[in-house]
Amino acid sequence: MDTNTNNTITTTTKRRRLVLLPTPFQGHLSPMLQLASILHSKGFPITILHTRFNAPNPTNYPNFIFIPISDTKEEMHSLSDMGNAVRFIHYININLLGPIRECLEWLMSKDEGVACLITDAHWFGTQSVADCLKLPWIVHRTSSISSFRAFAFPQLLRDMGCFRRSSDDEEMKSEALVPGLEPFKVKDLPKIQCSDPESAFNLLELMVQGTKRAQALIWNTCKYLEEHDLKAISQDFPNPHFLIGPFHKYFPASSSSLLPQDQTSLSWLDKHQPKSVLYVSFGSLVRIEETQFLEIAWGLANSKQPFLWVVRPGSIKGSEWLELLPDGFLDGMAKGLGHIVKWAAQQDVLAHPAIGGFWTHNGWNSTLESICEGVPMICSPFFGDQHPIARYVSDVWKIGVKLEHGLERGEIESAIRRLMVDKEGLEFRNRITNITEKVSLCLKKGGSSYSSLEDLVNYILSFP
Ligand code: UDX
Repeated sequence: MDTNTNNTITTTTKRRRLVLLPTPFQGHLSPMLQLASILHSKGFPITILHTRFNAPNPTNYPNFIFIPISDTKEEMHSLSDMGNAVRFIHYININLLGPIRECLEWLMSKDEGVACLITDAHWFGTQSVADCLKLPWIVHRTSSISSFRAFAFPQLLRDMGCFRRSSDDEEMKSEALVPGLEPFKVKDLPKIQCSDPESAFNLLELMVQGTKRAQALIWNTCKYLEEHDLKAISQDFPNPHFLIGPFHKYFPASSSSLLPQDQTSLSWLDKHQPKSVLYVSFGSLVRIEETQFLEIAWGLANSKQPFLWVVRPGSIKGSEWLELLPDGFLDGMAKGLGHIVKWAAQQDVLAHPAIGGFWTHNGWNSTLESICEGVPMICSPFFGDQHPIARYVSDVWKIGVKLEHGLERGEIESAIRRLMVDKEGLEFRNRITNITEKVSLCLKKGGSSYSSLEDLVNYILSFP
């Protein structure tokens, strides 16, 4: 545990077991495992129920018990690309509830007992299981409160035309503010595209209703960043809210990576001047078109700034890895400037003194990690919560530049220069440094996340 947070307790009181159930994707698995570690440090025995698809590595968590749910790994794999997100979430909430119930009954029959079930919001179906077993059910929402506001009113999204057929490629480009949801613009709202928009609407309704009915909500955020947003949702979501993040700062860099982390990035960064390198990564799910990949490559090369670029194999549609790069890209037009890896140790990279900026898709984990290391951002949101998060980074916290017109080499080059070279970059850096300090205070004794964690522990202990 980070010694600065000074928030570990040793307890002799025997505590009942907590059962945690993550959604099986990197951006959801990591915060759930971090939450498990935080609660374990408070004396709770931990069981992680998990799918065999994208299973976490139990050897990284010797203190936890891992129980795989009997699922059809192959079927889940085939549903797991983003085009099938709606069917994937339906699938897990219909087909896996039986095995989850069996596991819970078995765990509850043990002497130690189970205090509560904590699941990702995607597992809304587990509420009925928990109710039947008279087990308190807490929801962990893995994204920001502000981005949740953009999802929390499905009817409004339907009225705005956000549920669309897969074939509907007309973009929502309007810059108009959404009444009641400022500062979001129409173009920031989530577009949920699938073959059956009505079933997507029903699914979001179920998730939102689930969140409303949960006994409590745990957020990986802190009051300094989102107190205003908490107030904004409290009337519609009157559950107790525990804002105890940023989770990853309680511990050294996490070991929940589903992919092997490249080891060359840090020694490559060692050779660079402080704050001179742009780190580029779009997380674990984004997939781009070939033309977008080339625009990124040219934008990076033309900016003439050093860059460390994560290109996840399979993340460029129709390509294995780098075969589309112009011949001699790293030796020619980007000579001496770039280093490309398949997957980085991102938290260590962002903490490296050579990093001066992060070009990100604004997944919530990446955004929080950047904020915690004081690294200003270039924002390229692709889907879901990434658009609202990017809006906050650029327009509310004012700690980054948003690419407003997709991926185009001229705009990319100019954004990189604004962030890494121009005076404006220094302003972003000063602002984010101030935020980093305030966020780190939240975790210290007397800070809001510290106190909220104490409250959460007491809340769980109060369950009959
Ligand atoms: C998904 C959604 O896309 C995102 O919008 C949502 O907020 C969470 O779920 P993902 O796209 O993977 O997540 O993004 P993000 O939330 O940023 O999580 C990525 C995680 O992978 C981060 O913790 C990051 O440190 C890690 N990572 C990323 C690496 O360890 N190495 C890399 O090279 C890239």
